[in-house]
Amino acid sequence: MSTSDKQPSRPQRILSGMRPTGRLHLGHYKGVLVNWLKLQDEHQCFFFAADWHALTTDYANPGIVQQTIWDMLIDWLAVGIDPEKAVIFIQSEVPQHAELHLLFSFITPIPWLERVPTYKDQIEQLREKDLGTYGFLGYPLLQSADILMYRADGVPVGEDQVPHVELTREVARRFNHLYRKPDQPLFPEPESLLMPASKLPGLDGRKMSKSYNNTIELGETWKITEQKVKTMPTDPARVRREDPGTPEKCAVWDFHKLYSTEDERAEVYAGCKSAGIGCLDCKKVLLGHLEEELQPIRNRRAELATHMDDVRDIVRTGNERARVEAERTMEKVRRTLKMGYRV
Ligand code: TRP
Ligand code: SF4
Repeated sequence: MSTSDKQPSRPQRILSGMRPTGRLHLGHYKGVLVNWLKLQDEHQCFFFAADWHALTTDYANPGIVQQTIWDMLIDWLAVGIDPEKAVIFIQSEVPQHAELHLLFSFITPIPWLERVPTYKDQIEQLREKDLGTYGFLGYPLLQSADILMYRADGVPVGEDQVPHVELTREVARRFNHLYRKPDQPLFPEPESLLMPASKLPGLDGRKMSKSYNNTIELGETWKITEQKVKTMPTDPARVRREDPGTPEKCAVWDFHKLYSTEDERAEVYAGCKSAGIGCLDCKKVLLGHLEEELQPIRNRRAELATHMDDVRDIVRTGNERARVEAERTMEKVRRTLKMGYRV
């Protein structure tokens, strides 16, 4: 089906979630939040903290959620996720998600879950954790419940999550097929909105990730960011100031490609090749741009952190709005499953 020849009659509904498992960094901003910002202007968006999802892998360390959830929500608000435009909520505050997950579990064949690629991958990658649990096998189905609860049309996800949206479509189809007349489906089949992988590398040139210890956190101080950039590895051929370098062999150059103007890039490129500039000069240009991007976010962050009551109000309101919407769906689901007992 082509989407271009069909004007949606209502704004499309978008849903996405993020696990509260650590501080957000520039990779999250460039790779995820920037996309959310665009979507919230054009669509009806639901963004939630997936705290139950965090427990599927971190069940032995539940404190991590409490430690990081407010930091994460403050980061969302600080970058401009706007409670006037989007519903911002916490998954476990809307227990309907658990009810729908349970009802879906009755109709979902186990092989559908076993063949989700993240299942075996994660068990391999996180060997130190015992992920041979019922909940870990079922977590993509919890994600299906998250998505179908709001009858979302679009789900912004990274490439690894596309199979989860595919599973969601199959679950929706199976539910509709089992319980509804063909012309009266309850759940629409959501589309993946694939977010292009962020072009921003980590400070060492690998993917920016907490586990590589190569991040610029949204919430760190400017002094720390400055220190990190100044000590970023550069082209190893530039041992001394007089040694010419190759920008393509340097992560700083990848940052310039994203942040600097054409003129600055030309200057830095030539200067690196001819040893006309030193690495510190090169980094200073970049630091100017990082400061411009990060400081307003950090100022808003600091401001929000001193107004936690307001932050809690925003999330409380979001939770309530999400619950109203979730309950609307669950009433239909319960009626469909002949569970309106009227006692
Ligand atoms: N599983 C997602 C992740 O690990 C988070 C998530 C949970 C999610 N529920 C969702 C994303 C629903 C999109 C839609 O990143
Ligand atoms: Fe990297 Fe810039 Fe140094 Fe060249 S001048 S090696 S691009 S930091």
